[in-house]
Amino acid sequence: MMGLAVSAPLEREDAIVREVARHGHRVAIRAATATDLVERLAARAPDAEPRLDLVLVVADERHLHRELVAECDARGLRLLALADDAGERTRARSLGVDSVTWAEGFSAIEAKAKPTEGLEREAERARGRVVAVWGPAGAPGRTTAAVALSAELALLGRRVALVDADTTSASVAPALGLLDESPGFAAAARLARAGSLTIDELDRICQQVPTMGGVVRVLTGIGRASRWPELGGDRVAEVLERCRDWVDTTVVDIGASIERDEEISSDLFAPRRHAATHATLEASDEVVVIAGGDAVGVARLVRALPELRELVPQAHVRVVVNKVRASAIGIAPERAVQETLRRLAAVTPEACWPFDSRAADAALLEGRPLVDVAGRSRLRRRVQEFAATLVPAAEPTSRAALRAAERPERRWLPALR
Ligand SMILES: Nc1ncnc2c1ncn2[C@@H]1O[C@H](COP(=O)(O)OP(=O)(O)OP(=O)(O)O)[C@@H](O)[C@H]1O
Ligand SMILES: [Mg+2]
Repeated sequence: MMGLAVSAPLEREDAIVREVARHGHRVAIRAATATDLVERLAARAPDAEPRLDLVLVVADERHLHRELVAECDARGLRLLALADDAGERTRARSLGVDSVTWAEGFSAIEAKAKPTEGLEREAERARGRVVAVWGPAGAPGRTTAAVALSAELALLGRRVALVDADTTSASVAPALGLLDESPGFAAAARLARAGSLTIDELDRICQQVPTMGGVVRVLTGIGRASRWPELGGDRVAEVLERCRDWVDTTVVDIGASIERDEEISSDLFAPRRHAATHATLEASDEVVVIAGGDAVGVARLVRALPELRELVPQAHVRVVVNKVRASAIGIAPERAVQETLRRLAAVTPEACWPFDSRAADAALLEGRPLVDVAGRSRLRRRVQEFAATLVPAAEPTSRAALRAAERPERRWLPALR
């Protein structure tokens, strides 16, 4: 037996309540509006009987709004919307709420109320890898790298997701010319909190970006940095776990700050400003560290590396120095960078990417990855070589994919934008 809270127009509410009873469940709350429902949920004791298993609302303006989604999230309640027309479906989707149509019957509602079985089935498949793209402050090129690497991995035949978990300066959406009004990553985090984030949900929430090598599935970040509390560590970890079942490689763009708030705050239970960054790092198989190719960028890298390594004992840390140029670091800039890093941090960078404002600007101007707009540039070639090293040795890229990667121009796909 399930306990339900219901909010629907009167004429639909009666039918819902009848079906609930017919299937052996109980209605614990009947609310006239979403606002009313928020108040009733807030006033309810956590151990009140009957227990609440599902909040079922009609996805119109009166019965479903953002505050209700937040209240259900805060209480860990599964929220399901009845969406019977295009307007209701759009509303549910924009709020990241799972939906069914009444015509599917009450058994569809019961199935969606307990998605755990589906989750277990998904977990049986081969698991994908999580690659975090991190770098110290100073805009060394984390987002540029995350976008470019995702597209290269797609070209190498991988199913790829690109997640923007940067809670201070989310910028994957503008970098790819995407709308970020309803951030996909926050929606996924909400569903994760309710225990109902499935592969189907991820497919629904993501924006599919066509690139030369194939589709990159993008979960956009929070446009307003003030929304960071939506990306709590547990939720982020859960979303990334689901992503492992969804795609082969999940590339995650994260913020620069890695200091722990609890070291500067006495409130151990306060939400953590950089929880998304920490959760991503802890979940990663690989961390690609992007450092700026000048004296300041290298110095910041040297200072940050020990702290980073402490945070990610499980991950393979790969250092990339970006925007390497003689004008900033002297003649033979790559050698200079390598020698400095070896001397000061006992680390050898796995790649040095040249400063190439033409290629980088073209990507920004077009809102597309490097491979699509500057396929022959040196910068793109270096990114491409590095991306190939991210494919696990046990899963060699197919010859066809490698050949195609050599001549991307022939695989041109028109942008959907
Ligand atoms: N190799 C490169 N050569 C020239 N310009 C580059 C290169 N890589 C990145 N850029 C440019 O540097 C700027 C910052 O890049 P990006 O936004 O990727 O940095 P970030 O580390 O994500 O910064 P933020 O702190 O804003 O998240 C952008 O204008 C980008 O086009
Ligand atoms: Mg960025």
